[in-house]
Amino acid sequence: PSEELLLAAKKALDATRDMVSQYMSGLDPSHDMYHVDRVRRLALDIAKDCIKNGATQIDLELVELAALCHDVGDRKYYQGKETGGQLIETFLNEQKYGKADIVAKIVDHVGFSKELGWNDETDDKEKVQWRNSCLELHAVQDADKLDAIGAFGVLRCAAFSGARNRSLYVPDDKPIENITQEEYLNKNADSSAIGHFHEKLFRLKTMMRTARGKVLANERDRFMQSFVDQIDKEYNIES
Ligand code: ADP
Ligand code: NI
Repeated sequence: PSEELLLAAKKALDATRDMVSQYMSGLDPSHDMYHVDRVRRLALDIAKDCIKNGATQIDLELVELAALCHDVGDRKYYQGKETGGQLIETFLNEQKYGKADIVAKIVDHVGFSKELGWNDETDDKEKVQWRNSCLELHAVQDADKLDAIGAFGVLRCAAFSGARNRSLYVPDDKPIENITQEEYLNKNADSSAIGHFHEKLFRLKTMMRTARGKVLANERDRFMQSFVDQIDKEYNIES
């Protein structure tokens, strides 16, 4: 790419970082700029690993921008009529960034609640084809899932529950095995922090799309498993 293009991309990245930092400052600590930055670093790490393994077509600039923007417009916090992608496309076009539409498309596909609801059998064929082949999307999706599990995942789940004034642990709130998407979405509104581990967080390692993501997810899942074992042990007063 020409020097001019590189400079334009750098300017778009800086402007985006400032805008996102401002946006996240209104949310609770489970979704702050530190979360965004961990996802950005993880996504770039995953994408570089893909490149090392032969996927040389990956555009790291898209990965970085989409990672920065991935939580803009998240429905847990934003009730406006636009999708996150629409907000981002408007912003990046204002910055005269050339690939605003692709970043926007990626942003609208990140979110494991969305991923849980996808059905390749019934969804629009072209869309399914795109989401199953866009490696920049996979890097950001896996990075976001990774920051929801492991030690950071434990902290974030407690922070989110606290922000919504939910219980940490409800003893007779028995984990539901193999909960359906519909049951999950209905139940999500009031689950406890530990309940959320069983409903969602323990499933994430089975949803990883990249090789590097799978390795990191397995390690983080083991940690989370031992954390929940310890919770049960303490509750049952075993020593
Ligand atoms: P998605 O990208 O699908 O929207 P989330 O934003 O729900 O994913 O998950 C991000 C973080 O918010 C996770 O760390 C998760 O622990 C936390 N979180 C989301 N929903 C809940 C919930 N119902 N209870 C506790 N934590 C939650
Ligand atoms: Ni996120």
